[in-house]
Amino acid sequence: MNKLIIQPQVKKGHIRKELQGHFSEHLGRCIYGGVYVGENSDIPNENGMRKDVVQALRDISIPVLRWPGGCFADEYHWKDGIGPREGRKKMINTHWGGVTEDNSFGTHEFMELCRQLGCEPYVNGNVGSGTVQEMSEWVEYMTMEGVSPMADQRKANGHEAAWKLPFFGVGNESWGCGGNMTAEHYANEYRRYQTYVRNYRPGEKIYKIACGPGDFGTEWTETLMKVAGRFMDGLSVHYYTVPHDWNHKGHALGFSREDYEITLKTALNIERMIRTHEVIMDRYDPEKRVGMIVDEWGTWYDVEEGTNPGFLYQQSSMRDAMVAALTLNIFNKHCDRIHMANIAQLVNVLQSVILTEGPRMLLTPTYFIFKLYKDHQENDLLESVLIPDGPEGELPLLQESSSIAADGAIHVTLVNPGLDDTREVEIALGGREIREASARILTGKMDDHNTFDAPDTVKDRAFTDFTVKDGKLTAALPPVSAAHFILR
Ligand code: AHR
Repeated sequence: MNKLIIQPQVKKGHIRKELQGHFSEHLGRCIYGGVYVGENSDIPNENGMRKDVVQALRDISIPVLRWPGGCFADEYHWKDGIGPREGRKKMINTHWGGVTEDNSFGTHEFMELCRQLGCEPYVNGNVGSGTVQEMSEWVEYMTMEGVSPMADQRKANGHEAAWKLPFFGVGNESWGCGGNMTAEHYANEYRRYQTYVRNYRPGEKIYKIACGPGDFGTEWTETLMKVAGRFMDGLSVHYYTVPHDWNHKGHALGFSREDYEITLKTALNIERMIRTHEVIMDRYDPEKRVGMIVDEWGTWYDVEEGTNPGFLYQQSSMRDAMVAALTLNIFNKHCDRIHMANIAQLVNVLQSVILTEGPRMLLTPTYFIFKLYKDHQENDLLESVLIPDGPEGELPLLQESSSIAADGAIHVTLVNPGLDDTREVEIALGGREIREASARILTGKMDDHNTFDAPDTVKDRAFTDFTVKDGKLTAALPPVSAAHFILR
């Protein structure tokens, strides 16, 4: 029998709620149609935001939302997206499908979305094609309470009070779509731009995020930490699970067992990527002051047939749910360094938790993983060890993370990524007995997914296939499953 031993007395770090964050870019149907339909839409909305989508995201306690990109961020000029909508400048979204962006969703709309979601805004500024002044004025516009040129404009545009701005990103993928800069050049640009990201709100400090590497780009991390480490609060890293290679990513559905296993192995490799950058960050910042911000992660397949290739629209199956379950456990295990993570992207793009089609909406299997994991938010990570009952291949027999909440309840998220075998596991607490437990589970076949005609094929349910005896819990986890246990 597999054994999981948890030490309730040994806290390994704090799991910030932001580890379960999301990312929304002006890309395809993420913003337009996905979250924002405008006040005049027939789709039920509040101030233009889809009520169904907002409610679903509130239900998983979405903690933070990154916007407006992505690659789009370095082409975005925020002043085009304020003031009366009819007068807003139109632009071409050159990165994503060459479509016309009418700027009807801008700063005010994003802040309104965050208000409705009850989440924190994480705004990503433009270094690639923007100026220091532009970035500086954006921050002033959003956060200056008193009298100033930008605060006055905000008030004239209908928002008297300044907004809270907890997180601000200075550029995105500056080694690529964000300006094709060298590490040395960007590090110096970062130092300059961030100087003018001022703190206007008394007692509140904006958490400044520098653009970090993609995947395993160690030289970038090394240079950024050396040249600009003391000027940043966080360093972003991006990691996409691309099953084969960028030219043959494979399809989101109708994949083989081999594809499934390759995808999960690739997803698990995120831990090696995290370790790679952690080692460098530890050298420059042994106190772990600077956070790692995994502000783009998730699966990336070929787009759905018949859709705009620039829109990155893909379906989502139990395979993706397993990727999310394994990844969120890994983030928990590294919560001493990871301060935030944002799955890409919120709605209708890549590994989305929600898909929409006109007025219809469905929750993807990945959505239910966030639902199962949300109780880890703001808990303390516990020391835990999983002892497999046999040899492990490239996929673990089982994988977990365990945390303790303020009320003393222990939360365990346990994954059986295997395709064939039910795995029995015994959970024991060091120095304490388990007296009672409850659990929920998400399970299915590897390519199970929800469609607009059958939106409830995959969803979480209560899990009762366990016993509590002699202070220990014994459970049988079906293949392709993730479960959340609450132990008291
Ligand atoms: O999420 C899609 C794109 O992937 C983002 O715009 C970019 O930052 C990354 O390359």
